Amino acid sequence: MTNWNHRHVIDLATFCLEDYISVIELTHRFKTLPLKGSRKIPALQGRLVATLFFEPSTRTRSSFELAAKNLSADVQSFTPSTSSMSKGESPLDTALTYVAMGADVLVIRHSSTNIPQQIANALDKDGIKTSVINGGDGLHSHPSQGLLDLFTLINHFDPINRLPNSLFRKKIVIVGDILHSRVARSNLWALTACGANIVLCGPASLVPQDFEDFINSPPPGQKNDPINKRGTIKVERCLEKALSNADGIMTLRLQKERMRQYLLTDLDSYHIEYGLTHEKLELCGRPVPVLHPGPVNRGIEMSSALLEDRSICLVEEQIRNGVYTRMALLYLINTLEKE
Ligand code: CP
Repeated sequence: MTNWNHRHVIDLATFCLEDYISVIELTHRFKTLPLKGSRKIPALQGRLVATLFFEPSTRTRSSFELAAKNLSADVQSFTPSTSSMSKGESPLDTALTYVAMGADVLVIRHSSTNIPQQIANALDKDGIKTSVINGGDGLHSHPSQGLLDLFTLINHFDPINRLPNSLFRKKIVIVGDILHSRVARSNLWALTACGANIVLCGPASLVPQDFEDFINSPPPGQKNDPINKRGTIKVERCLEKALSNADGIMTLRLQKERMRQYLLTDLDSYHIEYGLTHEKLELCGRPVPVLHPGPVNRGIEMSSALLEDRSICLVEEQIRNGVYTRMALLYLINTLEKE
């Protein structure tokens, strides 16, 4: 039996190794179950999962909803454009409305950092047992993406046992706009927890040098790091150097507004310097998997040919694993609910 004790899942900085193992094992179990047709798992029968996405999403929202349905939960989604947000209702009051309708789990995405945490704090203060899962907040955290990326990499390196230490001392390169990426931040906590050594690669405007200290600063309110010994984080500006002897690569979506903010000169130059292609991957000296959380800007973060090369690019595998990882999270939280 797992020692899972997270009523809310806001930030992977709070995860210990056993938490990661619980998620990885369950994700694999769900992935290998035949879930088609009526063969759903009754684990969340009678439970209501509400997806409150105040910011657009394709993958995260749909896969949480599919995950909840695979576990036989009822699902209620929320559309900001037709909601009472237009009358000035706050995210907290929106969340409390869904709680009053009986939601057991709220999956919340918001463009502002800390909205899911603030809602979780308000529920805790009132003794409300509804769980909050962060579906991505501002620049802070996207824990379910970090977990599905972790599972995808571990399953790639160790498909038989899926042990976290299959990442020990692996060199994982994360390329692109780290500064504005909640995905990168969640991956830094998850991958270093398993001993991976991370190389962050990109221009100084998008990859500040002080990211090398990221894992030394747990979030406000958290006293201790639950991981005894983490992997390392290094910043490397030159993609060629970063890719040398890499074991895996993750590249991140480049938001086009970075041009308007004068953080980049133009997209063509970015692609030449930091875009991934089959030719650039030869610098790794061996075949390596390439991940991207999506959505992908074809021809900017990576070439279309690379994106479509399923022998290298694991984007589709990440999407598939996303459903099972989110099933694992919902299942684990529900276990706690019943205790
Ligand atoms: N990776 C990710 O968060 O995608 P969506 O914005 O489509 O949910």
